[in-house]
Amino acid sequence: MKTIRFGIIGCGLMGREMASAAARWHHLTDCGTRPEIVAICDRRFVTADCEEVRWFTENIATVRQVTADYRELMANPGVEAVYCAVPHHLHREICVSVLDAGKHLLGEKPFGIDRPANEAILDACRRQPGCLVRCSSEFPFFPAVQRLGAMIEEGAFGRIIEANAGFLHSSDLDPEKPVNWKRMIEFNGEYGCMGDLGMHVCHVPFRAGWQPRDVRAVLSNIVSERPDGKGGRAPCLTWDNATLLCRTVDPGSGSEFPWILKMQRIAPGEKNTWYLEILGTRACARFSTKNPKLLQVLEYRMHQQEWRHIDTGYEPAFGSITGGIFEFGFPDAILQMFAAFLHELEHGRPLKKFAGCVTPEETALSHQVFTAALESHREGRTVGLD
Ligand SMILES: NC(=O)c1ccc[n+]([C@@H]2O[C@H](COP(=O)([O-])OP(=O)(O)OC[C@H]3O[C@@H](n4cnc5c(N)ncnc54)[C@H](O)[C@@H]3O)[C@@H](O)[C@H]2O)c1
Repeated sequence: MKTIRFGIIGCGLMGREMASAAARWHHLTDCGTRPEIVAICDRRFVTADCEEVRWFTENIATVRQVTADYRELMANPGVEAVYCAVPHHLHREICVSVLDAGKHLLGEKPFGIDRPANEAILDACRRQPGCLVRCSSEFPFFPAVQRLGAMIEEGAFGRIIEANAGFLHSSDLDPEKPVNWKRMIEFNGEYGCMGDLGMHVCHVPFRAGWQPRDVRAVLSNIVSERPDGKGGRAPCLTWDNATLLCRTVDPGSGSEFPWILKMQRIAPGEKNTWYLEILGTRACARFSTKNPKLLQVLEYRMHQQEWRHIDTGYEPAFGSITGGIFEFGFPDAILQMFAAFLHELEHGRPLKKFAGCVTPEETALSHQVFTAALESHREGRTVGLD
């Protein structure tokens, strides 16, 4: 099996998740390439044996370089590819530097704190056509979403009547939760919840080829001040919730339909709910991670309108040792997404249309939508996409 030597920059929540996925590569059965984590970088790595470093070095024997300075990792010729999971204000600087060093990049959303940052990363991609560049988004790898993707590919929906997509959290419902970088505009960005949650919501619709023409957005800042964690209060200026209505074109039928996107950090009762509902003239389908096995499908047969409830099993895009009857979860989706990146690196194309990571062009489209959404909310009008 071919090995790709990876460095991880940003070893917090997501850095550890990806390192753990790499450590259980033997779970997959039909991958021709595997990642080896050889270098790790986080500004919290103040000493070589601090707690943050030890989690990696005690669990991942292949780590050979530990650094607090990402430029040292860039200079390491043994690193062929980088997974970058740092706060949004650093995406531009670090992703551009990864590409200028000629390394493959799996970046994190929103892939630049704002549109100029995203454009700078895309410019760097163009300078390095030999590097594979993708952005993370794991929810399409849930087996039910893979089936839903196959329905889109087959044209099973007919003319699309409406699509609803969203990602809902309630982690910020508690107003006494201390502020962190994800709630601070200078680190998280003007997009707020759209930057955090939006790429997840856009991935399948963009891969389907749906083209948003304009957007009307309503954004809410529900908790505008939080404890600063030091006994005082801190402003919390990022958008908590965003609802967008996009006039969207389906290239399959050429027809327009409303696409409604919800990205909410304050959605009571929702923990990490990613959902997609497509209503068409021939069929409809629904999926939500609230009930992650369930795919609901309605096909118009004999004029009956019956929602079928299909229990999907462990049927991932990339084969694995887990029995088909078992359940699929978040770490499985991360492993599948990592496999999709390596598959594309090895074969030059995704395994299937809906089994690929987000492309740089798809990130650029998401930035167009979110930038237009900011303008729409500010001016109280519908904004066309350029
Ligand atoms: N794909 C997903 O489902 C998902 C989920 C959560 C977050 N994310 C994305 O992942 C990225 C990181 O989020 P997170 O939740 O892991 O955050 P986190 O705060 O847990 O981790 C970020 C890490 O980056 C480190 N860091 C900060 N500045 C650095 C620098 N100059 N050099 C090296 N390291 C530095 C921090 O010390 C921290 O350990 C963000 O882009 C976020 O949007 C993706």
